Amino acid sequence: MQAKALKGFKDILPDEVHLWQRIEVTARDIFRRFGFLEIRVPVLEQTGLFVRSIGEDTDIVEKEMYTFSDRNGDSVTMRPEGTAPVLRAFVEHALHLKNKVARLYTIGPMFRHERPQKGRLRQFHQMSVEVLGAAEPAVDAELMAMAHMILAELGVTASLEVNSLGCPDCRPAYNKALVDFLQSRRERLCDDCRRRLEKNPLRVLDCKNKACRAEVEESPAITDYLCGSCADHFSAVQKGLLAMEVPYSLNRFMVRGLDYYRKTTFELVTDQLGAQSAVGAGGRYDGLVESLGGAKNTPGIGFAIGMERLVLLLAAKEQGQPGGIDLFIAGLGEEAVDYGFRLQQGLRALGTSCLMDPAAAGLKSQMKQAGRARAAFTLIIGEDELATGQAILRNMADGEQRMVPIGADTKEIAAVLAAEIQRGV
Ligand code: HAM
Repeated sequence: MQAKALKGFKDILPDEVHLWQRIEVTARDIFRRFGFLEIRVPVLEQTGLFVRSIGEDTDIVEKEMYTFSDRNGDSVTMRPEGTAPVLRAFVEHALHLKNKVARLYTIGPMFRHERPQKGRLRQFHQMSVEVLGAAEPAVDAELMAMAHMILAELGVTASLEVNSLGCPDCRPAYNKALVDFLQSRRERLCDDCRRRLEKNPLRVLDCKNKACRAEVEESPAITDYLCGSCADHFSAVQKGLLAMEVPYSLNRFMVRGLDYYRKTTFELVTDQLGAQSAVGAGGRYDGLVESLGGAKNTPGIGFAIGMERLVLLLAAKEQGQPGGIDLFIAGLGEEAVDYGFRLQQGLRALGTSCLMDPAAAGLKSQMKQAGRARAAFTLIIGEDELATGQAILRNMADGEQRMVPIGADTKEIAAVLAAEIQRGV
């Protein structure tokens, strides 16, 4: 039987990889400009870490985690997101002692047992950033500006939607208003939401069930219930966005799928991905570090960009094929092939990407291979060329051919050729 990848698990094939690389290179450079350092954390963690941080009433914890007992009988979970593991590492290694404010990012696979569809996988990848130790609203605005910059430099457009979820001081009053509103509609809510109504009413706003969505449409807005300090914070965040010329709109329904958020939340949304509209999302989670055993009063904020969704957006506007190689050397005859292999080694050492056909098939077949490899140039070497010390260099874009010297010293010839190829002549 032919083996197949698991449902929702995807191979990233060579003709797509250049998009992934472009995203990573661009993002890493922007992270650097904003003073972020990379951290790499394990894929597997104790289940309790995610239950405590993401929240037991969330879809992620209730329905989507890859949780199993390992061979010692301990409950472990494949990380469904990056924030909890990074915070666990921050606390475990006392990283707050190194810097007053830690700016960390991590890139890697996450796992959620969701129903797969376009832009929604069971193994997906996030670029996830966290700032720990800064409560100032300027940091919220700065992070959104950074997310905006990543998309802008990749040439992707998404709209920034912003909300505030308040804090433990103002949330109870809002919860009460929400429960009062939903009680009369209780019968029309799904079973999960009826339970959520008692335990965690905010989660009803995040339910994916159509009927529940319709019921919450007229619900009270959390931003009308913010305490003085949260309201001031939220308005300062918006001032910061205006100052940095980051366009945004307010979305009072945004509660996010994770329980740890407080105050600012945000999403980067697009209408180009069908139902999966969020390319990136995040928010503030003051209190989470402390609840994971870290120092008291360590505020935190972060966001994650979903890389599969970004790849889809890039692919949609991508023109042409990914970049090919610099040079294909077509060698005809044993001696020419030997020569070509030495020259190829010299060229590669100088940074030129180069390929040959090790089977040295006929010229026609080798030219075909050069085409498939999308070579910018092809160097054709046969017995005559070796004898005269001149070989044909063909520009594959316009078909123009000219003679180039090929002497006994392949290193010297490689240097001349590499320079010419670099100049594109
Ligand atoms: P999240 O909203 O659950 O937040 O995920 C962030 C992004 O990951 C989403 O906007 C989406 O682009 C992508 N994503 C999520 N699930 C899937 C999936 N099944 N398939 C493909 N892409 C997906 C978090 O994970 C938070 N940890 C973000 C954060 C960091 N908040 C603070 N710091």
